[in-house]
Amino acid sequence: MSDTQLIKDKIDIVDLVGEYVQLKPAGVNQKGLCPFHREKTPSFMVSRERQSWHCFGCSKGGDIFSFIQEIESMEFIEALRFLADRAGVPLTHTRSESDRNQKNRLKDINVEAARFFHQFLLQMPAAAGARQYLNERGLKEATIEEWRIGFISDQWDLLTQYLLKKGYGIDDLVVSGLTIKKDGGGFYDRFRGRIMFPIWDAHDTVVGFTGRVLVETETSGGKYVNTPQTPLYDKSRVVFGLNKAKQEIKKNDRMIMVEGQMDVVACHQAGMKHVVAVSGTAMTEQQVEVLKRYSSNVSISFDADSAGIAAAKRGRDVALQEGMNITIIRIPDGAGKDPDECLKKNPEVWFDAVLNAEEYIEWLFVGVFRGRNITNPKEKQQIANELLPDISRIPYAVERDHWLRELAGRIGVDVDILKEDMERIRRSPKSKPQQAKPNEVVSPYPPQKTRMDALVERFLVLVLRYPTAYEEWDLPGGVTPMLSTPDLAHLYESVGSGYTTQHSISRDNLRHAFSDGNIENIVDTLILQGDLLFQNTHESQAKKEVAVIVAEIKKEWKQAERIILEREIDLAERAGDATRIAHLNSVFETLR
Ligand code: UTP
Ligand code: MN
Repeated sequence: MSDTQLIKDKIDIVDLVGEYVQLKPAGVNQKGLCPFHREKTPSFMVSRERQSWHCFGCSKGGDIFSFIQEIESMEFIEALRFLADRAGVPLTHTRSESDRNQKNRLKDINVEAARFFHQFLLQMPAAAGARQYLNERGLKEATIEEWRIGFISDQWDLLTQYLLKKGYGIDDLVVSGLTIKKDGGGFYDRFRGRIMFPIWDAHDTVVGFTGRVLVETETSGGKYVNTPQTPLYDKSRVVFGLNKAKQEIKKNDRMIMVEGQMDVVACHQAGMKHVVAVSGTAMTEQQVEVLKRYSSNVSISFDADSAGIAAAKRGRDVALQEGMNITIIRIPDGAGKDPDECLKKNPEVWFDAVLNAEEYIEWLFVGVFRGRNITNPKEKQQIANELLPDISRIPYAVERDHWLRELAGRIGVDVDILKEDMERIRRSPKSKPQQAKPNEVVSPYPPQKTRMDALVERFLVLVLRYPTAYEEWDLPGGVTPMLSTPDLAHLYESVGSGYTTQHSISRDNLRHAFSDGNIENIVDTLILQGDLLFQNTHESQAKKEVAVIVAEIKKEWKQAERIILEREIDLAERAGDATRIAHLNSVFETLR
């Protein structure tokens, strides 16, 4: 048996999906609100028997692998590993064993360290100051629990000793970044006297830590210290808080990007949960790649200081290149330097600022003009120098012109002069306008269904649920080419020919004919839909319904044929082809 089938058999799809979606029994199936689009009435179905799921609202569907791929935004291979782990099925082809083993040991070490820090914070007398500090910063106990925040007092090798006693090897501890090897021999802890935040990857694995110094002294090092690059922790890839924010990001189709860990935690505590942080660096391409899986809309809130502005600019360039839409959140002057402070002062101000996130260029104007003396010609030139490169990069002429005029008006110069300046900038190779990738609009939905598609689908749903409701309906074969998906056309034909040759419809044969590895089976989908729509329908009623649908299909087909014929008659008339006109007219009559 294949790995995938083995895993499917070991994992109950209802249990698995049930961890993400509230499911209620609906006949032999389960239904609930679709996690992949917003809806008020449930159209998301799960079938244990068929090991499949489908949403009739957004047309997504598949098996446990595609579910995990969608909901966790994993590639197939990641989903396979994830579920294999859960099912306890060893995969036949995997990376080298030792590589896997090392990573697993590092994961264990991180989990153990996170537990140690957390318990230390909660229980040790030496952590009283840290508890008070977090309390003063407004973190609730539940928040500390949820984010597994911890503390380690300022001692030499407390954690290293603890983990050694637990049986972990010193080499692994050094690789994990938690322990540092001294030049002259001996070992000590990287994190000392710090509030500890575990850093998870998107799938809840602790990949590293960031530690905030409790008492800043000359020797305490940076305010924040992070795990260095390790086999688990890739600084350029990791996004703090993503594991806890990802579902909300999908739901809102937007993410809020802030600078620091404390900002993320404070936002989540305030109920705003689509918030993540890149932790003091500008967004990298790899981070954007990960984030794009969840939404292509990002609102950035970086500190208003020059480092924050520079980081926002760099982040914006990367995001633009990757085709993300970016807006900037501006915390009003005096309302706090970052989201955490702003939330503490007045949560409403922060929520408003998020709602009123500005276009990048708008935000830039505010920043560049702040504190500037616009009567001083030197400053005017500086303002123009700072804004023109960005204006010149706006890919749309009308918008570009708008901002150019805005700038001209505000510094009181002729717009033509600015245009000259801008042309110079545009021509200089250094700031060549970056070719902004056109925002690729990839619809998650299949192409628009036609009325014929809908009718045929309903017909198939009915006859698959009530195979005996199907009689010799004499369905026009001309319908097939009118259907917009090959699967639907193929199934329509199969049902028709199956009935003609065997005078029966076999669900199993059809399912078999349409099953194709892990791809969702159209027959299953339609059967599920039948379960949803016709749960309480009697067979006699279903027969009537089939008759009505078949009549509608014929009507629709005739109408389409008539339109084609009319066009042909028109052509024949223009050509003066009398015989052809007569022939077409007689065909037309049969379509009445
Ligand atoms: P900030 O200095 O703005 O700190 O750094 P903060 O987030 O407001 O921290 P609190 O509120 O004083 O606790 C922003 C982020 O930059 C990274 C951290 O991720 C921090 O959250 N940073 C900062 C470092 O990595 N190292 C540092 O030394 C300082
Ligand atoms: Mn802060």
